[in-house]
Amino acid sequence: MTEAYLWIKALHIVAIISWMAGMLYLPRLFVYHAQAPKGSEQAQTFATMERRLMRFIMAPALIVTWISGFSLAYQSGYFHAGWLHGKLALVVALTALHGYFGWIRKDFTADANRHDPRFYRIINEVPTILMVGIVILVVIKPF
Ligand code: HEM
Repeated sequence: MTEAYLWIKALHIVAIISWMAGMLYLPRLFVYHAQAPKGSEQAQTFATMERRLMRFIMAPALIVTWISGFSLAYQSGYFHAGWLHGKLALVVALTALHGYFGWIRKDFTADANRHDPRFYRIINEVPTILMVGIVILVVIKPF
């Protein structure tokens, strides 16, 4: 492995940590937001926290994760590896979930939330499950 490869991998891991921090915390904010009275000052504060978290941390981190991940795959020749295809399927699911969170966030900002707190507690677990699968695939490389 070249030194540049390892630097990009370090960047990849930093970006993943930042993205995942948001993916794990944002649905938790949705749980609290769904409990706040609509139109309240508290609801507005949650909307601001959600917007800033997505815009300044999660969205840039998602972009850096994808670019650095593809750069690693290109340099290493892993593009043909079965584990990377499996990993990409899970990363696409995680990215779709990110998009879905953005949609929910806009509903909350418009005071038009459609779900109860329990719904957000359940979807809070999905990023964790995807992350465990992704890390096992990239570290163990089982196929
Ligand atoms: C967006 C598309 C992604 C692509 C194309 C991609 C691709 C790669 C590649 C090729 C490596 C290098 C593997 C090696 O050198 O052994 C790597 C490392 C890694 N990736 Fe990704 N990745 C992506 C997203 C993610 C995500 C979302 C996560 C976690 C949630 C993740 C977790 C990791 C970890 C933990 C490593 C370090 C593994 C090691 O050094 O053993 N990746 N990635």
